[in-house]
Amino acid sequence: TFEQSLRPQTIRQYIGQDKVKANLEVFIQAAKLRQETLDHVLLYGPPGLGKTTLAAIIANEMGVNLRTTAGPAIERPGDLAAILTALEPGDVLFIDEIHRLPRSIEEVLYPAMEDFCLDIVIGKGPSARSVRLDLPPFTLVGATTRAGSLSAPLRDRFGVMCRLEYYTEEQLKQIVVRTAEVLETGIDDQAAMEIARRSRGTPRIANRLLRRVRDFAQVRSNGTVDLLITDEALGLMQVDRLGLDHIDHKLLIGLIEKFRGGPVGLETIAATIGEEAHTIEDVYEPYLLQIGFLQRTPRGRIATRLVYEHFQLEMPEQ
Ligand code: ADE
Repeated sequence: TFEQSLRPQTIRQYIGQDKVKANLEVFIQAAKLRQETLDHVLLYGPPGLGKTTLAAIIANEMGVNLRTTAGPAIERPGDLAAILTALEPGDVLFIDEIHRLPRSIEEVLYPAMEDFCLDIVIGKGPSARSVRLDLPPFTLVGATTRAGSLSAPLRDRFGVMCRLEYYTEEQLKQIVVRTAEVLETGIDDQAAMEIARRSRGTPRIANRLLRRVRDFAQVRSNGTVDLLITDEALGLMQVDRLGLDHIDHKLLIGLIEKFRGGPVGLETIAATIGEEAHTIEDVYEPYLLQIGFLQRTPRGRIATRLVYEHFQLEMPEQ
């Protein structure tokens, strides 16, 4: 039987990221017309916007296999060699968190990306020798939350760069409705919109909230996701009107109460709320910057007037 998958399988099913989709569609069609392997693709942007999904769609649309790994999982050149030599011609190799690839591995990757070959050293000491292995042509799809922390030589080897952006509420609503269909859950329009509004522009969050609200609807109500049960469930989960969760709250309230709204350095914020600086930078900050709650200045982060208004707090003078 046909089962619609939770993740969209084709560009047509993929909602949002219209510019990225339009470009990829052309590059995929052109590569197929010429019977070539698609150029390497770098997907970058905040977490949860669909980089992994797009990598799978690229492989599917090209009609090739998808192999998936992540930067931190590749520790030695041999790990990468094992993956690359197992590829079939045209395959997509997806490397998530590619900015966390060790430098020594990057250097193995350059000739693999550029000339589809691998220089490996066999043996140690005086008897060591280098052999060159031919690889099947492949498409590397790299994903990163920060294109800026890729080394320039690696970045330069991607022929296609796509920046994913936060989704609009309307797009998120469509995604919520689609996911509810796949989950065979009834949902009304207002509830779908409310989940969309509180998802921080991020499909992964929207789908997670939908699942949790659906749990509440099933246990506490008649199984249909309506606005009443949505409000109740999101309230209990400490997701506020703007979708900010208790970590966002801790960050913003901390900034206001401990540092009079800043400016304060990222490391200091991290220490006071007990989160890693790079988690704040990659996961929490981008959305708060996007909605104008935070400003980054050379002297540190500042909470804007919008934060005081949101929490109904008095803004200090000056
Ligand atoms: N599920 C998660 N992200 C999606 C997207 N961009 N389009 C459709 N369904 C999705």
